Amino acid sequence: MSTAAIVPAAGEGTRLRAGRPKALVPLAGEPLVVHALRALRASEVVDRVVVAAPPAVGDEVRAALPSDWTGWVTVIDGGVIRQASVAAGLATLSADHDLVLVHDAARALVPARVVVGVVDALLAGAPAAIPVLPVPDTVKRVRDGRVLETVDRAELYAVQTPQGFRRDVLVAAHQAADPDAAATDDAALVERIGTEVCVVDGDPEAFKITRPLDLRIAEAVLESRRA
Ligand code: CTP
Ligand code: MG
Repeated sequence: MSTAAIVPAAGEGTRLRAGRPKALVPLAGEPLVVHALRALRASEVVDRVVVAAPPAVGDEVRAALPSDWTGWVTVIDGGVIRQASVAAGLATLSADHDLVLVHDAARALVPARVVVGVVDALLAGAPAAIPVLPVPDTVKRVRDGRVLETVDRAELYAVQTPQGFRRDVLVAAHQAADPDAAATDDAALVERIGTEVCVVDGDPEAFKITRPLDLRIAEAVLESRRA
């Protein structure tokens, strides 16, 4: 079995307001995307990676990668929406890889244990596997400034990455995808073609760096790992 990973990293990082694409925003002195790649590498279950970078800064992303990752990672131009970035990555992967992970660069600190858990579920026969965490907050449905109802959170889970797929499943899901009804994750496309998606344990440290506070939390996580 050979496992490849696609890393969508082509977003602008609008909510982070760092004045540059999120992939290149420094965290403890290194770009976010480098942290995300190091996390995949540390899992020792990813044979090859394709990074979808903002086309304007592709060379800057390439220059930021450690030289001993040559051959392991390739940087390509991402698309205008996340789904297009993943599709571009999928198109460049050879059919030699039976399993494909999709991992957001923004989840830069995912612990290796989560990556291994997703791959183990695929090796055990799941066509698709995603890491999830229970939702800790009370959740309500709101419309026009008023609460409609309190949703039973027992069945609600927040979804993380990497999401893992049999390659043929992910290819079929993206082929069937409607470009006008973009999904925010790849599992949603797999659900739409009627293929079962299994869940494995996520981890709070796999949180998505979205807003300025998340960057400060990420710095604190790295600090605690060093201590
Ligand atoms: N992404 C991508 N291509 C896009 C848009 C997003 O590859 N056209 C990637 C981002 O780089 C990120 C992941 O998808 O790793 C999740 O997206 P998000 O957290 O929303 O990142 P951004 O789109 O960069 O942030 P924002 O929405 O605040 O602009
Ligand atoms: Mg976005």
